[in-house]
Amino acid sequence: MRLAGLLMTLMVVFAGTATAVDVRVVGGERVSIDDHPWVVYVTDASGNQFCGGTLVSPTKVVTAAHCAAMRTPRNTRVVLGREDRQSSAGVVARLTDIWVHPDYVSADQGSDVAVLTLRDAVGFTSLPLARATDEELYEPGTSGLVLGWGRTSEQGSSSRYLMGATVPVMDDGHCENAYPQFDPDEMTCAGYPEGGVDTCQGDSGGPYVAGGRLIGITSWGEGCAREGKPGVYSEVKRYAEDIEAQLRI
Ligand code: ARG
Repeated sequence: MRLAGLLMTLMVVFAGTATAVDVRVVGGERVSIDDHPWVVYVTDASGNQFCGGTLVSPTKVVTAAHCAAMRTPRNTRVVLGREDRQSSAGVVARLTDIWVHPDYVSADQGSDVAVLTLRDAVGFTSLPLARATDEELYEPGTSGLVLGWGRTSEQGSSSRYLMGATVPVMDDGHCENAYPQFDPDEMTCAGYPEGGVDTCQGDSGGPYVAGGRLIGITSWGEGCAREGKPGVYSEVKRYAEDIEAQLRI
């Protein structure tokens, strides 16, 4: 995410006293995983992080189809409870199954949803999914939290620490103006018209949370945090039944 990145500390020197003033120029900041115990990241068998995800039951993780479509349970891991990627905190879980939405072709064509099944149940708190009836969580202007270990600027490297930022749901008209392929039935876009706060490469599959529920899955966007180019998220309420069906398996 283009998060955190820039924390400008202005030293205001006045009457011989130096006062530090924090100015967060680009939205996000480090957050504690203890406050978001359901946020996970996905790695290959060597531990290289490439996507995010959300624990939605003791054995199920929701992520993006584009994170999972080319993978096998054997060569994929889910890391839970590890805020600092360079630490060994938390749990590295193995998988027994990967379900990719059957209509998935590419992220910008929608159905960018997948469910990973963990071999062993984990003790971390899971996050409830938005349901078909949770329309109010998708009202334009609703503020939601995006989380991940992705890039902190468009050309930057991914983040060692878990980052979070608040972005408002944008109205569908705005999203359709930004992107001809935006499908309001399957996608939600979020961000500020002027840009500046967004998810980025490596955040895909991770959560967009509002009202204590998973409302979106980080999916795609043009660049990161660009003016007029909001982030696009798979609209969880639209896929709630398909995902719930996977949780029963
Ligand atoms: N597709 C990206 C990934 O694989 C996430 C893109 C999100 N982009 C954005 N501008 N919000 O990590």
